Amino acid sequence: MAGMRVVKVPLDERSYSIFIGPKLLNQLGAHCARLRLGARCAIITDTQVAPLYAQAAIASLKSAGFDTLLIQVPAGETAKSLDVVARCYDELARHRLERKSFLVALGGGVVGDLAGFVAATYLRGLPFVQVPTTLLAQVDSSVGGKVGVNLKAGKNLVGSFHQPRCVLCDLGTLRTLAPREFRAGVSEVIKYGVIYDATLFRYLERRLPQLLRLDPGTLAFVIARCCQIKAEVVGQDETESGLRAILNFGHSIGHAIENSAGYGRYLHGEAISIGQVAAAEISTRLTGLPSVDAARLEKLLVAAGLPTRIDLSTKQRKSLLAAMKLDKKVSAGEVQFVLASKMGKVLWGQRVPEALLHQTLDALAPDSSR
Ligand SMILES: NC(=O)c1ccc[n+]([C@@H]2O[C@H](COP(=O)([O-])OP(=O)(O)OC[C@H]3O[C@@H](n4cnc5c(N)ncnc54)[C@H](O)[C@@H]3O)[C@@H](O)[C@H]2O)c1
Ligand SMILES: [Zn+2]
Repeated sequence: MAGMRVVKVPLDERSYSIFIGPKLLNQLGAHCARLRLGARCAIITDTQVAPLYAQAAIASLKSAGFDTLLIQVPAGETAKSLDVVARCYDELARHRLERKSFLVALGGGVVGDLAGFVAATYLRGLPFVQVPTTLLAQVDSSVGGKVGVNLKAGKNLVGSFHQPRCVLCDLGTLRTLAPREFRAGVSEVIKYGVIYDATLFRYLERRLPQLLRLDPGTLAFVIARCCQIKAEVVGQDETESGLRAILNFGHSIGHAIENSAGYGRYLHGEAISIGQVAAAEISTRLTGLPSVDAARLEKLLVAAGLPTRIDLSTKQRKSLLAAMKLDKKVSAGEVQFVLASKMGKVLWGQRVPEALLHQTLDALAPDSSR
């Protein structure tokens, strides 16, 4: 089909393909038939995505002969909870989905993580297909097999690894996504350039306007390249012992901003934008990243409409540093950073002296000139 790209994720017998292109939702049923998935399925989606795309998904599955149940969960992060998981199990049981049935995750990263977790655990595991409808889900959460939900004690504390049987990234679905949500996804896209691919980074410097206006060719190229990078990284380190850590560039400070100082104020991608600027700044001091490259990164993030600075009160700074130490990337009490040595190349497990962390936070204030 014109304009379609395919990325293969090689994981031995669990290998699967990611399809990226326009109008893929209409092919959902055909893909499930090709994969010889069972006769019955359930679509898990949220209340914001359902009115937009559930009908097309159901129609496609029905015309391929699948008996389809629709399960709607609330939109937003709160759906990633054990309560909602239990409600999904009950629905599946009530409609007698059995071991040969399969699930379809139709929505953003929240739905993907939730439905993936339900699929990983119901009847000890059902096959599932991802239809990610946010940019973040298309380039990040739908690739790699991590599924799970939150606890009151923290995000993603319960989960599993469960690979989808296939991923369909329908570019058309991004047209209804809030521009702010789209830009938050661009933050992760830019990250892939920094950690793995200087050519992608240069491409983004040239083609950002086309990307922001959802030009299909640009979108397909960028999403495919990001999926390829994530698949390559995950393929070399499926269970997160080493290399996979590079995906966390910008996330040490980013997560801390999300969880403390900017709680509720920033989307994940926005917090990660500020975190990337901080990590690049530290990289110029510790791992030899040229200052011009740190400046290019900030410029690109700003051009994408993302925040790169944050004003922290003394109290906020304290809670931010505390949040960083609570984060799971800490080993033996020390915060481990992913730092860049040049554009497209990063090193993980880097130790950052607390004094330098303080200096970096000073430099993140909106009025500080660097
Ligand atoms: N599993 C992983 O490896 C991984 C990686 C990164 C992030 N995540 C998880 O992903 C989640 C965030 O995902 P997200 O940013 O996609 O958030 P999300 O799923 O909450 O989607 C954001 C909002 O956009 C709406 N929406 C989704 N698609 C839409 C569309 N096409 N048109 C209009 N509205 C649409 C949703 O209803 C929601 O309100 C977090 O829970 C995070 O932990 C997981
Ligand atoms: Zn992220």
